[in-house]
Amino acid sequence: MIIAVDGPAASGKGTIARALAHRYRLPHLDTGLLYRAVAATVLQHDLDPAIEADAVASCGFDDMLLGDPELRTDRVGQVASIVSAHPLVRAALLQRQRRFARQPGGAVLDGRDIGTVIAPEAEVKLFVKATPTIRARRRHAELQARGGTQSFDRVLADIRARDQRDAQRTAAPLVQAPDAVLLDTSFLSIDAAVQKAIDLVEAKRRGAA
Ligand code: CDP
Ligand code: CDP
Repeated sequence: MIIAVDGPAASGKGTIARALAHRYRLPHLDTGLLYRAVAATVLQHDLDPAIEADAVASCGFDDMLLGDPELRTDRVGQVASIVSAHPLVRAALLQRQRRFARQPGGAVLDGRDIGTVIAPEAEVKLFVKATPTIRARRRHAELQARGGTQSFDRVLADIRARDQRDAQRTAAPLVQAPDAVLLDTSFLSIDAAVQKAIDLVEAKRRGAA
């Protein structure tokens, strides 16, 4: 079983994907980390992500970087959404994600284009959303817990900018797959959102049986 979980920043897709992976004993890949690793490498090499597309696409990254907490920062997230708009960058990361999705026994992947590009054949596709204000509140709380000092307004502006870039790019934009089920977590606790996701997976499995 392949489970594809897509959605915008701080919608709760990672939390849901991890919980589903645990529940169904499937391996999980947070594909945003791959783009964040490219972004961190671009920052290390002082490249301009907006113009040096070829250099950005070919710079790759060290897998050790994937565990680096620095990847979670907002700065890296913003640059990730710039580098991820380059078709060459997406192409460089495609096979790795497809291989992960198609491993025997299945997998859970979360990102922006899992149900549309990486694994259009996925048995279960969830599109997770929440209002921008609620997502910004969640991200702001996370940043504060890590000692960050950004204002709520700044976090909200960053989320809106990233949403716009991710949804308007030509290469694999953030869009709900026609066969994805919408899960709005705006007014759901984490437990309630996870339970809803499990119910949706179970309904799909019953439908397929
Ligand atoms: O966790 P959050 O939703 O804030 O971000 P993320 O999933 O780590 O993704 C960071 C950026 O990578 C996003 O803003 C997208 O531009 C890009 N991304 C993508 O283009 N395709 C994916 N499958 C995953 C992430
Ligand atoms: O992966 P994505 O960026 O979509 O979001 P996440 O990392 O799963 O969730 C972002 C933050 O919102 C985390 O701190 C979650 O604990 C929190 N969250 C929440 O408060 N309520 C939910 N229903 C889901 C997530």
